[in-house]
Amino acid sequence: MASWIFKLLLLQFVLVLIQHADSGSIIKYLPGFEGPLPFELETGYIGVGEQEEDQMFYYFIKSEGNPEEDPLLVWLTGGPGCSSFSGLVYENGPLAFKVETYNGSIPTLVSTTYSWTKVANIIYLDQPVGTGFSYSTNPLADIPSDTGSAKRVNEFVRKWLAKHPEYFSNPFYVTGNSYSGKVIPAIVQEISNGNYICCKPQINLQGYVIGNPVTAYDHDNDSRIPFAHGAALISDELFESMKRSCKGSYSIVDSLNTECVKLVEDYHKCVSGIYEELILKPQCETTSPDCYTYRYLLSEYWANNESVRRALKVVKGTKGKWERCDWSVLCNKDIKSSIPYHMNNSIKGYRSLVISGDHDLTIPFVGTQAWIRSLNYSITEKWRPWMILDQVAGYTKTYANKMTFATGGGHTLEYKPEENSILFKRYLPGFEGPLPFELETGYIGVGEEDEDQMFYYFIKSESNPEEDPLLLWLSGGPGCSSFTGLVYENGPLGFKVEAYNGSIPTLVSTTYSWTKVANIIYLDQPVGTGFSYSKNPLADIPSDTGSAKRVDEFLRKWLAKHPEYFSNPFYAGGNSYSGKMVPVIVQEISNGNCICCKPQIRLQGYVLGSPVTDYDLDRNSRIQFAHGMALISNELYESMKRTCGGNYIIVDPLNTECLELIKHYEKCVSGIYENLILAPKCDLTSPDCHSYRSMLSEYWANNESVRRALKVVEGTTGKWERCKWSLQNNKDIKSSIPYHKKNSIEGYRSLIFSGDHDMLTPYVGTQDWIRSLNYSIIDKWRPWLILDQVAGYTTTYANKMTFATVKGGGHTLDYKPEENSILFQRWISGQPL
Ligand SMILES: *[C@@H]1O[C@H](CO)[C@@H](O)[C@H](O)[C@H]1NC(C)=O
Ligand SMILES: *[C@@H]1O[C@H](CO)[C@@H](O)[C@H](O)[C@H]1NC(C)=O
Ligand SMILES: *[C@@H]1O[C@H](CO)[C@@H](O)[C@H](O)[C@H]1NC(C)=O
Ligand SMILES: *[C@@H]1O[C@H](CO)[C@@H](O)[C@H](O)[C@H]1NC(C)=O
Ligand SMILES: *[C@@H]1O[C@H](CO)[C@@H](O)[C@H](O)[C@H]1NC(C)=O
Ligand SMILES: *[C@@H]1O[C@H](CO)[C@@H](O)[C@H](O)[C@H]1NC(C)=O
Ligand SMILES: *[C@@H]1O[C@H](CO)[C@@H](O)[C@H](O)[C@H]1NC(C)=O
Ligand SMILES: *[C@@H]1O[C@H](CO)[C@@H](O)[C@H](O)[C@H]1NC(C)=O
Repeated sequence: MASWIFKLLLLQFVLVLIQHADSGSIIKYLPGFEGPLPFELETGYIGVGEQEEDQMFYYFIKSEGNPEEDPLLVWLTGGPGCSSFSGLVYENGPLAFKVETYNGSIPTLVSTTYSWTKVANIIYLDQPVGTGFSYSTNPLADIPSDTGSAKRVNEFVRKWLAKHPEYFSNPFYVTGNSYSGKVIPAIVQEISNGNYICCKPQINLQGYVIGNPVTAYDHDNDSRIPFAHGAALISDELFESMKRSCKGSYSIVDSLNTECVKLVEDYHKCVSGIYEELILKPQCETTSPDCYTYRYLLSEYWANNESVRRALKVVKGTKGKWERCDWSVLCNKDIKSSIPYHMNNSIKGYRSLVISGDHDLTIPFVGTQAWIRSLNYSITEKWRPWMILDQVAGYTKTYANKMTFATGGGHTLEYKPEENSILFKRYLPGFEGPLPFELETGYIGVGEEDEDQMFYYFIKSESNPEEDPLLLWLSGGPGCSSFTGLVYENGPLGFKVEAYNGSIPTLVSTTYSWTKVANIIYLDQPVGTGFSYSKNPLADIPSDTGSAKRVDEFLRKWLAKHPEYFSNPFYAGGNSYSGKMVPVIVQEISNGNCICCKPQIRLQGYVLGSPVTDYDLDRNSRIQFAHGMALISNELYESMKRTCGGNYIIVDPLNTECLELIKHYEKCVSGIYENLILAPKCDLTSPDCHSYRSMLSEYWANNESVRRALKVVEGTTGKWERCKWSLQNNKDIKSSIPYHKKNSIEGYRSLIFSGDHDMLTPYVGTQDWIRSLNYSIIDKWRPWLILDQVAGYTTTYANKMTFATVKGGGHTLDYKPEENSILFQRWISGQPL
């Protein structure tokens, strides 16, 4: 018996060994990355060529979405001679280098937010042979060529799939950028021909994606002149003279045409100081840590370290120095133009996405557009902006050959990775289907008989849900659904802003979601808000203090059902009216931890945006704010201060002078949009109005199919309102200052931030009450920066309370979501702002 088991084990062991030698190795840890990789990485070699003399190295990353059905991509980087690892860590992969000066230790790798592997399986392939870790076993082999490489990649993909047959049925795309623009159309043709001629099972080839593709050298180069003119790098005069003298041909100039030769020289003088890959960036030394391209060196330090090579299972002795781009890799550039391949692929019906960074001078969009036009297909979707939320991210156009052209950042994807990632996701068919993150909705009953059924949306952190903080997020009102936060402020979805036409409004991914670093429960409270409902129609009207107890109860019950989150650091947060609720909720949880409840909630602190705190104080501060923002005159302000004694809310009816001045004040500010004084005051039913978007959530949440999808219990909520102003609520907390005081004593940390253009709860008042807590300042008022721009100002106090303004921000987070997200990420991870 025992020996039988032993034999079985031995057999399994042998099988495992064979499998490993055959199909690459699963890599769980990489030097420079802390902890296990949060995705599945496999590396390996596939031999191609007659005697498998070309050993092609690849990095395969499984989709983090649905690997069984998501597309399979092969990604090639340009050069020729650039390792595909460049795509993995700089462009569209799940890892990136932390940019810091190399000090002898292995450079640090961190997770990214924009990886295409969220929706696709990607094979990053080092080709042509000699690139990256790919090597040849035959030192006498021919120099690789473009057409030869196309055949080799086809062979590679077929052999790779034979070893990973579970991916045969996935939609397949060939993708890459820069020089691979020459080879990819030929690879598509090879694979397509292979499917017809020989090979079963077929590859489920759908199309290709190319970024700033090299297409035909002369053509691409010539387009730099009109591009440089459009981008204001050369003068009108020079451009006109060049057009006249050189007749559109600037790369190959007849040496007898001395006028043109001279003008081309002038042109080169004008652009010689420009960083071609992204004309907005400075030209600088790669070896200087301040230079953008310094990050490229990090990959070389990394990939040349022995422990890294061991981890990647690179075969010893096959590769000398690894270079990100090995310019000494020989390649016979025998494809002069890839346009004929595009023509053939169009005829066969493959779809394609062609992306051009619109600030790239190496392969300008001008030239790319011109060759696409030369294919002579009619336009099926006219030139229009493509949007991320309501901002133009670029422009796009689609042709009858299923070729979509879109503009974005620079020569490679790395300058606009978030935008390119969204572009790619939208390009994939059916992205509207599965959500790119985990959403759970449900009810938890609270109250003596569980009569209050509290509805929540829970979104798992997209980074490390096991260890990232758990945040409870509340919206204000009282009576505003937390769905407001989810789709307008800090969640992973937003509405595409377009006029409602009877179809369900479209949801799109956001770039700034706090769920990138935290697990978030969005809770509809108090009862009656959003989809929360009461089973007892005779129940008491909710109150601030009562609701705070209910939230504590909710949280303990939710955690009992999700015990894996008990160990995560916990924070409460919200904005506007939540400024009243959250400090009390913190107190309730803290007391609960002391008195009764095991396991304890790992309460760390709280975060509040433009919080309502103390009605009189908040409102009184509007006068000083209006003065600071030039909404009222100096004279009026001075008179008001003198006459009203700092109290503009409850005024002695006998003080007629003060009342008169207040009327005058109200006239001055009545035309101002208080949520954001810079925005126009407008009618929210008009699609041009910023607040129109809030209508979209009502169309959305009141559609039956949406409610079914959210698992809302039928018959429990009539009309869903984003903010139910008719909700009755006993506002029994007049001021939350005493609660802040108590929470400070108990040592909880807090982040209080204010949009500095919010007039509903002006930062002036918020600063006043923070000061009134009487803690000393430990980090003096200073700007906080994003890149090198001032994003706001901040101060930190000895009670671990950090105050920050967000420059240009308003009452809610939706006016500056990117800035707020960076603020939050820095604070929650304990970094200085
Ligand atoms: C490789 O990295 C390890 C760990 O940081 C370091 O100790 C070693 O010196 C490095 N080796 C080389 C050749 O740089
Ligand atoms: C290099 O810097 C990293 C991160 O700042 C640090 O962890 C490491 O100890 C440093 N290594 C050396 C050799 O100074
Ligand atoms: C086009 O530009 C590239 C990069 O500047 C250069 O290497 C190449 O020689 C140029 N080709 C022609 C035909 O001008
Ligand atoms: C395009 O397809 C035609 C017909 O199959 C073929 O003859 C031609 O060689 C192809 N063009 C290229 C550049 O391979
Ligand atoms: C596109 O149309 C133009 C003008 O009709 C013609 O000269 C050119 O050859 C056509 N190009 C292709 C690829 O068919
Ligand atoms: C709900 O949305 C579907 C799909 O757009 C639509 O057909 C239906 O009319 C909508 N229902 C209501 C009540 O708006
Ligand atoms: C409404 O607009 C969307 C997006 O523009 C479109 O897909 C949909 O078909 C339109 N629905 C109706 C009913 O017109
Ligand atoms: C803060 O200090 C002032 C003056 O010392 C005092 O009047 C006030 O009561 C203190 N506030 C609190 C909340 O302790």
